[in-house]
Amino acid sequence: MNSFSAGDSVRIGIVGLGRLGRRHAENLATRVSGARLVAACSPIADERRAARDALGIERLYDTYEAMLADPEVDAVFLVTPTSLHPDQIIAALHAGKHVFCEKPLSLELEACERVVAEAKRFPHLKTLIGFVRRFDASYRDAFEKIRSGRIGKAFMVRSQTCDKNDPDGFFVRFAPTSGGIFLDCSVHDIDLARWLLGNPKPTRVYATGTIALHPGLAESQDVDNGVAIVEFEGGKLAVFYASRTMAHGHDTSTEVIGTAGALNVGRNPRANRVEIADEHGISNECTPTFYERFADAFVTEAQVFVDAVRGNEPLPITLQDALEATRIGIALRESQLSGQAITFDAVPALA
Ligand code: NAI
Repeated sequence: MNSFSAGDSVRIGIVGLGRLGRRHAENLATRVSGARLVAACSPIADERRAARDALGIERLYDTYEAMLADPEVDAVFLVTPTSLHPDQIIAALHAGKHVFCEKPLSLELEACERVVAEAKRFPHLKTLIGFVRRFDASYRDAFEKIRSGRIGKAFMVRSQTCDKNDPDGFFVRFAPTSGGIFLDCSVHDIDLARWLLGNPKPTRVYATGTIALHPGLAESQDVDNGVAIVEFEGGKLAVFYASRTMAHGHDTSTEVIGTAGALNVGRNPRANRVEIADEHGISNECTPTFYERFADAFVTEAQVFVDAVRGNEPLPITLQDALEATRIGIALRESQLSGQAITFDAVPALA
């Protein structure tokens, strides 16, 4: 049952106003139709003040529980540390709120399963995990072209998520809680590979990596460059590369190879269409971070969520998709740590 009448806005409370939460808040306040950003929650006073001063939000909460008790909030946007996602999603559902939550759903399979089971008890509430690339215009076009048979039968994905080197080592500090490079970065590529290949079940993975520039990652058993191979049933394959050390910018690209062709999204991570020709050759500037690359997709993602809540429409990504991405990400991490290939026989997919 849907409680929204035509013309009703979805009243949203944002939770977490850090690196990405601030961007989601700006989008919800100014660029998403049918949404009203009415509340913000952060344990950090400066972040709450910034939300009030920059966006005019008056309902400010220092605890999540207090926000959930607010009857003027219809939906929460969780942009909080990943370790908090499962319990925060479940608490929102129990409080009768729709949920948007940033990726990944969780770093633990058992927690993903708990969220999937709880969400089934609240079928009238929407829960979307933000795999933003599925909302990018180029990835959508690639998906439609593959579906229409343009490259024959797609059997292989080569996909990378590579960040510009940050000499301050933000992600070294982030490493103890990020789940490692595969669960933090490659989880996007994992989700894309499943989506673009038609949701095949994984059968075996192998992953390895190296520390090229940031020795501090060793303490968290993480790497700054990782490579992985995933075998799926039916002979489908995915190869992933993730890096934190690019010199030129944020470089995300995906190639899909089929029996009658191939397509590539983002081969040149160009910042815009300007090309400079000079004594060094021909060049272009690159997207500096993930946000510039996917800025429009973050708005589309929020719009799809709000439209689904208002119109009681199905969402394009299920919680089961998010669980499967974590399942593969965990296996990659295990493989990187053990040096062994990991098979999925012992952990059959739920769906
Ligand atoms: P951040 O550390 O910059 O921000 C986290 C925010 O959560 C802060 O505002 C903090 O005050 C708040 N917070 C912490 N504990 C809280 C609690 N108990 N209740 C309410 N608020 C709390 O982290 P960042 O980089 O913004 O990442 C947040 C999430 O977004 C992560 O899950 C991350 O994986 C995801 N992310 C997704 C990206 C994408 O491409 N879709 C890119 C970057 C991050």
